[in-house]
Amino acid sequence: MKQEREKFSGRLALLAAFAGSAIGLGNIWRFPYMAGENGGAAFIVIYLLCSLLVALPIFFTESLLGRSSGKGMVSTIKTFFNGKAGRKWCGLLIVAPLLITSFYSVVGGWALDYFIRACTGVFGRISKEEAVAFFGEYSSSVFEPIISHIIFLTITAAIVARGLKKGIEKFNNITVPMLFVLILTIVGYSCSLPGAVDGINYLLKPDFGKITPGALASAMGQSFFSLSLGVGTILVFSSYMRKDESIVTAGFFTVIFDTVFAILAGFAIIPAVFSAGIEANAGPSLVFETLPYIFASMGDVSPILSYLVPILFFLSILGAAITSEISMLEVLVEYFVEEKHLSRRKATFLCFGVCVAIGIICSLSFGPLSWIQIRGNNIFGLLDKVSSNLLMILGSLLFAVVVGWKMDRNKVRSELTNEGTNKVSVKLFPLLYFWVRYIVPVMLVLIFITNIFN
Ligand code: PHE
Repeated sequence: MKQEREKFSGRLALLAAFAGSAIGLGNIWRFPYMAGENGGAAFIVIYLLCSLLVALPIFFTESLLGRSSGKGMVSTIKTFFNGKAGRKWCGLLIVAPLLITSFYSVVGGWALDYFIRACTGVFGRISKEEAVAFFGEYSSSVFEPIISHIIFLTITAAIVARGLKKGIEKFNNITVPMLFVLILTIVGYSCSLPGAVDGINYLLKPDFGKITPGALASAMGQSFFSLSLGVGTILVFSSYMRKDESIVTAGFFTVIFDTVFAILAGFAIIPAVFSAGIEANAGPSLVFETLPYIFASMGDVSPILSYLVPILFFLSILGAAITSEISMLEVLVEYFVEEKHLSRRKATFLCFGVCVAIGIICSLSFGPLSWIQIRGNNIFGLLDKVSSNLLMILGSLLFAVVVGWKMDRNKVRSELTNEGTNKVSVKLFPLLYFWVRYIVPVMLVLIFITNIFN
């Protein structure tokens, strides 16, 4: 007998899952440094536009695909292809989530390590040079980052293996609200530091002169990455969504939570950076090199806070990373359960093993394998760029084309408007449908081409 598919127990659990997937390293690690590099407030404005005009409509398409089929990514997309060959190619869709799950876990492992170190108090007395040297030595070493990567994946796999309600829901329901409390606490502290006002101004006063085509492409890529689009996470979570939930409302709330969190992370980090008299454009090393030193320098004002704040900060990164990693691993596990008929436990174990292996190569690419450089990137950087700048866009394009051109219009309408009962989405539908059919694919192709040349 076929088992009934598990469903989220309620709206809050559903929103916690979407928000948990969206809020992650993208918000705390990438967004602040991108905003720092690309003109602060101006970047935030552009980012918001990208999220609303392109990312949100794609969220709707991905979500409605999952909810209408009640199946995983590959099984859903397969139904739109007739030939056997086309159906076979659909299996390749799991490559993107596989790669992201693997390299994401490496940074998740760093966060775990930094959290443990923060608890031991090392960041209470680190100098700027020491902080930079520490990260360099740490990330290029062989064993520690690999062990942390494996522990990080083990925690995630243990949650996913327990299933939707007992594992994923339980963890997200506690962690996602906790993340907001943590980040608000850090914002309060960071903004009260001497000299933080300049950082606050930087985030509030737009300097549109800094918006270049490159910054625009970054904002677009960031909104895709941050909303977890194009790799099946939204699709798979939506397949666990009850029919009486509104996809449009869920999408709006996810964008709001995700964006608010990213901006809060900006306010948690940039004012502290300004307060320490450091340029905000430190790039990817901002969180792991610059911040520990900034926290330590706060020790002159309050030794207790300079001990506690890094703990809270790295705990928030760790929690956010786990909730996102869960959503990616679920895409893979769901695939092996549905398509290859493995038990959930076996499927989780298999995915865990493969991701550990790929992650180890990514981790080593900062050390012993750093000689492998492809167009100026190590293996980690390459996988990050290929998946975020190319595969996520291609995945999103596929979802938009399938919904806009292959799916029956009435079915799309019925899913988006809950069979015509949701008044707001009934009004929005004609515009939204036009947008998904014509505008979104053109924009995605343009972004894809820009990214290839970048
Ligand atoms: N959205 C997550 C973040 O911001 C990353 C992610 C990408 C999660 C793709 C799932 C799928 O960190």
